[in-house]
Amino acid sequence: MCGIVGVLGNHQVAPILVEALKRLEYRGYDSAGIATVNAGHLERRRAVGKLVNLSDRLVEEPLSGKAGIGHTRWATHGAPTTLNAHPHKAGPVAVVHNGIVENFKELRTELNALGLTHETDTDTETVALLTQYYMSQGHSPQEAAQKTIARLEGAFALAFLFQGEDDLMIAARKGSPLAIGHGDGEAYVGSDAIALAPLTDKITYLEEGDFAVITRSSIEIYDENGTLANREMRTIAIDAARVDKGGYKHFMAKEIAEQPSVLKNTLSHYQNADASEVELPDHNIDLAHIDRLTMVACGTAFYAALTAKYWFEKIARVPVDVDVASEFRYREPPVSPGTCALFVSQSGETADTLAALRYMASQNATILSVVNVPESSIARESDLVLPLHAGVEIGVASTKAFTAQLAVLALLAIKIAYARGAIDAAQYRTHIAELNRLPGLISQALGIDGAVQDIAKKLATAQDIIFLGRGALYPLAMEGALKLKEISYIHAEGYPSGELKHGPIALIDKSVPVVVMAPMDPLFDKSVSNMQEVMARSGQVLLISCKQGLKTAAEGTWAQITMPTTPDLLAPIIYAIPAQLLAYHTALAKGTDADQPRNLAKSVTVE
Ligand code: AGP
Repeated sequence: MCGIVGVLGNHQVAPILVEALKRLEYRGYDSAGIATVNAGHLERRRAVGKLVNLSDRLVEEPLSGKAGIGHTRWATHGAPTTLNAHPHKAGPVAVVHNGIVENFKELRTELNALGLTHETDTDTETVALLTQYYMSQGHSPQEAAQKTIARLEGAFALAFLFQGEDDLMIAARKGSPLAIGHGDGEAYVGSDAIALAPLTDKITYLEEGDFAVITRSSIEIYDENGTLANREMRTIAIDAARVDKGGYKHFMAKEIAEQPSVLKNTLSHYQNADASEVELPDHNIDLAHIDRLTMVACGTAFYAALTAKYWFEKIARVPVDVDVASEFRYREPPVSPGTCALFVSQSGETADTLAALRYMASQNATILSVVNVPESSIARESDLVLPLHAGVEIGVASTKAFTAQLAVLALLAIKIAYARGAIDAAQYRTHIAELNRLPGLISQALGIDGAVQDIAKKLATAQDIIFLGRGALYPLAMEGALKLKEISYIHAEGYPSGELKHGPIALIDKSVPVVVMAPMDPLFDKSVSNMQEVMARSGQVLLISCKQGLKTAAEGTWAQITMPTTPDLLAPIIYAIPAQLLAYHTALAKGTDADQPRNLAKSVTVE
C-alpha cells in the first residue's frame, strides 16, 4: 500500500505532487508528505491525516522547486504520526517508499554502530540513512542508491531525491508496482498510471528488480543484473478527470448508482453484435477441456470467486477450489498438469493474489485473471485477462467492481459450460438473455434506496449484525457483512443460513439484527425455516426477498426490502444492491467516512 509519486517538471511541483497524491489516496491516507529540491536545496513538508492537512500545511509554509517526490501513507511500521510520515530524509537524501523492508532492524543496528541514528519507527528511514552513509563514503547519488537497494530485503517501490540535484530522481521496484511517465521535457514516477494521468499517457512499467536513473531528458532503466534494459513505453487510455463524485456525496454512492451502466458496458464487451454468443479476448485455452479450476482472491474479490464456484460447478459441471490468497500462497498446494488458475482482483496489484498467481505460474498452470485495471501486474502476468470495464473505482469499499466481477465470471461459466457440453444451445442462449437483463434489474433494485435509509437508522445502533444466505447467496451474506464492517465499524458476520444452528444461533437475541437474503429460488423454503429459527429466539429479522417471497414469509419479521423477481443466475448480483446500500446508509447514519474508512486502503500491496 502507500502511494508514491515523483516529478521532474518545468513548473512549481508542489501543487502537481498534491494533485497526483489525491489520485493515489486510495492506497492509504493516514499521513502524507512531499519533498522538493529548489536551487539545490532539499526540503520537505509532512502532515498527519488526509491529504487536505498536507495542503493546509503547504499554504502555511509553501515549498518551492521544480523537482519533487510525494507520498500518501498506509502505516506498516510505526504509528501514523508526522515523524513517521514520508518522505524520509537523511542528510542529502529524501526517500518515499511503498512496501516493507524486512531486514530494516539489522540495517538499523549496523547504521547505529556507524553513528547514524534513527528518529522514526519506520523501516523506510533505514533506506535514507543507508544511502546517506554511502554518499558520505564518496559514492555518487546513483551509486549510493544502487548499493542501498542491493542491501534491502522485502518488497519495495522507491523514489529518491537528492540535495544539490535539481535534475535527478532514482526509482526502483521489487515487489511493489512502479510506473515511469514520459513528458515533454519532464519525467514522472508513480505507483500507478492513474496518478500520472493528467501529466502523461506515455508509461513504462518497471519490472521486478529494475532500477531507473531519471532526468528531464533521459530515462535509463537497469535490470536486476545491472544491465541497461529496454522496457516498452505504452500509451495508456485512462480518464484524467476521474476524481469526480458527479454530484454524489461520496464516491461509493456514485459507484453504487452507476452499476446499471457499468454492467451494460461490461456485458457489451463480452458478446457478439446480436448478443447470441459470449466472446472472450483472443486466447489459446481449450475451454472444453477445463476439468478443474482453482480460484484465488482476497476480500470482496474472494466472495465473487466463491459465488462463481456455484455457477462453475452447477452450470458448467467443473469442480472448483476457492481460496484466500494469503493462505493459498504459503500452502503451496500440489498442482496437476493442465490445471487452470483464475485470479480475481479489482486492483490487479494485491500482493497476496499476485504471489499466489506467481506460484501457480511456476507450476505451469494456465493463468486466467478477472481484473479492473488492465495494466496491472496481475493482468500483465496472465495468459488470459478478462477486464471488468467497470471504470476506476475510488471508494475503498468495492461495489461496482464486485458486481462486474460477478457478471464476467457468470459469462465465463456459461461459456465454459457450453464448450464442455454441460448445457445445450438453448440453455446457453437463455443464460445470455438472463445476463442481459442485469442492467434493468439493477436499476429496479436501486429503487430501494429510500426504504434502506430508514432501516439503516436502526442498524446504526446495533453492536452486532448477522447476514444469512443460502447457496450462491451465502458468499453474498459474507460480502454484506464485510461491507458493513468496513465502513460503519459495526461487527457483522455472514453465515450460510443452514449453519446458524451449529453455533452462531447462540448470539441471537432481540438486540441482534439478522439480515436474511432469500430470493424465491429452490432453497427459499429452507431459508424461511432458518429465519423462523431466528425469530423463535427473538431475533430481529430484516427479510430481503421479492414480492412473492415477502408475501409468503414476511410475517413476524422486523423489516422487509422488496427486490425485483430475478432469474436464479442473477440473484447474487441483484441482491448485492441491498447489501451495498445497507452498509452505505448505516455508515452515513453513524457519521463514518464511507469512502476512506479507518485503517484501510484500496490497494493492498503488502502481505
Ligand atoms: C473490498 O470492499 C475491500 N476493500 C477489500 O476486501 C478488497 O476486495 C481486497 O483487498 C481485494 O482487493 P483487490 O480486488 O484489489 O485484489
